[in-house]
Amino acid sequence: MTLTNDQRDRLQTLPARLKAIITGQDRVIDQVVERLQHGELGLGAPGRPKASFLFLGPTGVGKTELTLQFTADLLGPNRVVRLDMSEYQTADRLGLLLGSANEPGRVAEGFDACAGRGTLLFDEIEKAHPRVLDVLLQLLDAARLTTGRNRVLDFSDWYVVLTSNIGGPRLMTLRKSKYETMERLVRQDAQRELRPEIFARITLTVVFAKLDYDAQCTIARGLIDRECVALAGRGFALAPSGSVSDVVIQRGYHERLGARPMRDAAELLIRNALARDLLCGGAGVGPLRPHPDGNQLELGLAHR
Ligand SMILES: Nc1ncnc2c1ncn2[C@@H]1O[C@H](COP(=O)(O)OP(=O)(O)OP(=O)(O)O)[C@@H](O)[C@H]1O
Ligand SMILES: [Mg+2]
Repeated sequence: MTLTNDQRDRLQTLPARLKAIITGQDRVIDQVVERLQHGELGLGAPGRPKASFLFLGPTGVGKTELTLQFTADLLGPNRVVRLDMSEYQTADRLGLLLGSANEPGRVAEGFDACAGRGTLLFDEIEKAHPRVLDVLLQLLDAARLTTGRNRVLDFSDWYVVLTSNIGGPRLMTLRKSKYETMERLVRQDAQRELRPEIFARITLTVVFAKLDYDAQCTIARGLIDRECVALAGRGFALAPSGSVSDVVIQRGYHERLGARPMRDAAELLIRNALARDLLCGGAGVGPLRPHPDGNQLELGLAHR
């Protein structure tokens, strides 16, 4: 496998770029990147996907986000095909994924869309129907899936990510435990609940850490910057003051739900301030800072 100088540089600097976006998961990122580097250099197991990962850990700590970010970085935008296993339980829904129930081990024609390179993300793997698991085993084993019309699809240029919250609730009761303790317990729970054949075929299993208060504060500041950059792309110029994050953290910090409420709080508070400015005839430009009531943000030079 020959890579260009640029591709080599990007692979070497990938950990730093991922750590700048995803906070508090440095050990997970280091291990995942090693396998991604092997995959990109053609050093993965022959005849299998480029690498396969099982991401374990509590809710809202970056499992899906890391998948989206590494895929976008390595393969470009919109290359993740996401399948939520909790949505494929009934015969009707399974048919959408696997085609006819009379053809075990086959997938529906829709999989034809998986051409080229990408990442197949199976969320909530502990809820997967046994028929889906059979197909997943084939995919992990041989990087091939066959459609109902006998087309063989090749996934040897793909990554596969399985995510699960197994052990998550128990983790939350271990408030002050070391990472190593919780990692061991989550792995034990996962081995009890998932089929051993899956474990045997996965390239790397990693346990994401809980996000403590400091990590969530760092995330809040990153989310504010990202939201302002996204809005700048739509022609709005918001200049947040340092204390904007106090309001976002107050609204968004949640010990058990990870960073998802923080993301929602940052988006909501900033968009509310922008909407109020626009409704008052503003142009969506100016300093962004806490409202005097302390619970909201405001945009512009003064209260109108
Ligand atoms: N470690 C992190 N660093 C920065 N942002 C994060 C991190 N974890 C989560 N977020 C933010 O929270 C949002 C939700 O996280 P994500 O979807 O990755 O959760 P998850 O671990 O997949 O949880 P679930 O098990 O419920 O699917 C992300 O879109 C991102 O904005
Ligand atoms: Mg997720």
